Amino acid sequence: MIKTKVTEILGSKYPIIAGTMARISNPEFVAAASNAGACAVLASANYKSPDELRDAINKTQSLTNQPFAVNINLFPALMPQDKLDDYVDATLAEDVKIIETSGHKAPEELVPKFKNGGAIWIHKCAGVRYAKKGESLGADLITVVGYENGGATGRLDIGTLVMAPSVIDAVDIPVIAGGGVSDGRGVAAILALGAEGVIMGTRMMATKECPIHENLKHAFVEAAETDTCLALRSVGNTHRVWNNEAAQKVLELESEGAPLFKLIQAASGEKAEEMYKHGDTDLGVVSCGQGVGLIKDIPTVKELLDRIMAEAEETISHLQRISN
Ligand SMILES: Cc1cc2nc3c(=O)[nH]c(=O)nc-3n(C[C@H](O)[C@H](O)[C@H](O)COP(=O)(O)O)c2cc1C
Repeated sequence: MIKTKVTEILGSKYPIIAGTMARISNPEFVAAASNAGACAVLASANYKSPDELRDAINKTQSLTNQPFAVNINLFPALMPQDKLDDYVDATLAEDVKIIETSGHKAPEELVPKFKNGGAIWIHKCAGVRYAKKGESLGADLITVVGYENGGATGRLDIGTLVMAPSVIDAVDIPVIAGGGVSDGRGVAAILALGAEGVIMGTRMMATKECPIHENLKHAFVEAAETDTCLALRSVGNTHRVWNNEAAQKVLELESEGAPLFKLIQAASGEKAEEMYKHGDTDLGVVSCGQGVGLIKDIPTVKELLDRIMAEAEETISHLQRISN
């Protein structure tokens, strides 16, 4: 059994974070992933008000007694930034003790709340500078993702193999790393780089419990590592997404210099949600990492995590054998 500072600090069975996913990481899915051994992350941006978030937290707590976190999104396009305080208050009031923030600008003004509320604060970012800032403000853990990752990639375009050790060397607190991890070899590789935990998003989508349409899960099984692209770079909000018709439309609009509102319309979360519900796989823009090319099946979350961790242990044993 692999034990790290992350399993120790977060109390999860495995050193795996089931990355938060907007409009997907709901109570049922978060509970399934936490029950399967990960520390899963509820997406507070899914909820229109702090009260709705409180209900979602309560629901999650009724489905699992395993650790889970709440994500507070620092990207203005994804969450009203003037309400963050209220979402943090709601999280702490419901006794969630792990808060993840994501976005480059570290949330200086929220830190006293995290600390006074006794929360473990994880700051997720995509660059050494941002990781150091998070550490200097008192983050307990840093999560860093490289260029391969599904979702926000930042603007540095540094692959996970370089990004993770760069951040690990630059900070003194434990680091969770990811971007492109879809199997046990990836987990072993991230741990070999010196990370104490591994974050996975894209791979978690092709699981039985993930609340997206079967068509999309099957499309991910069929997809190759070349089937993603970078969208919304022209407006400083680069996201790695699945290269479907909706993504192509966004790229086309960007190349024409279309106004922001048109881009927002084309990449809207509502369209993605519609696609998740009804299965028209070209309708919406969906975050997706290059690790999609490594997805070959649709297991339960438990089957996936047990298999991945067994494979990670086997990979580590293999490396020990060949080094003798
Ligand atoms: C469909 C999808 C939606 C995501 N939504 C969010 C989000 O709302 N906030 C966030 O911080 N990260 C989001 N992410 C990023 C994941 O939490 C995680 O950092 C990332 O998926 C890890 O890289 P990987 O996909 O290569 O495993 C999303 C990822 C995916 C695939």
